[in-house]
Amino acid sequence: MIKKIVIANWKMNPNGRLEAKRLFAQTKKIASSFPKVNVVVAVPFVYQSELFSGKKGKLLYGSQDLFSEEKGSFTGEVSAIQLKDIFVKYAIVGHSERRALGESDEIVAKKIRTALRNNITPILCVGERERDDHGSYLEFLKNEIRKSLTNISKTEIKKIIIAYEPIWAIGKRGKDAMSPPKLHEMVIFFRKVLTDMYGRDNADRVTIIYGGSAESSNVGELMRGGEVSGFLVGHASLSSRDFGEIVRIVSGNR
Ligand code: PGA
Repeated sequence: MIKKIVIANWKMNPNGRLEAKRLFAQTKKIASSFPKVNVVVAVPFVYQSELFSGKKGKLLYGSQDLFSEEKGSFTGEVSAIQLKDIFVKYAIVGHSERRALGESDEIVAKKIRTALRNNITPILCVGERERDDHGSYLEFLKNEIRKSLTNISKTEIKKIIIAYEPIWAIGKRGKDAMSPPKLHEMVIFFRKVLTDMYGRDNADRVTIIYGGSAESSNVGELMRGGEVSGFLVGHASLSSRDFGEIVRIVSGNR
């Protein structure tokens, strides 16, 4: 059975070490209170080595990105080898906010392969910018998935998490998230795309999660109705009260 997962994506927050340490300690507590859920925290690079150096507890360490190459002259980049060294187990790859800065599917595919080579679970983000009546966003998503998974084998696909994050739903309020029935449709669509690529058995074993204004007010419904295994949480992960509530609700859902 696929274990439930909630990933806190702090993005470029908070503004200082003290606040980062406080939020990290609270997130750690949440993770130990709900052991049925894999709770991952993806903090900004600048805080990683300090925050990820203490006693681990149940909280899993994540990165908001990694570089496609393992070592060399790449000013400003961070490698999978360096991340592995500070116990990072998950990396968000191809987030729409990075794709907006020019990250292509080809780069995303390379990053996924680098992560897997270093035993880091890639969280592949996909999502359409907008919807249209003719369903061309479905074609867009199919291509985004296929290209991002270039050269990923049947064995490797089961080690990847797919985060469906419709861009139009990111950074809004809970009520602006996707509706549970629509999310369910999309999960079926993704499994079909993955089945065509890897066969039914493998496709069924891929973890699919949702992101885009996931808050404590909507995760219960989205999980039940949408049939996802968890959430990639942005702004709500900066409030330990809301984030704790999200993890509690996810833990209580089958
Ligand atoms: P949000 O961000 O929860 O603030 O919408 C999600 C994400 O971008 O990963």
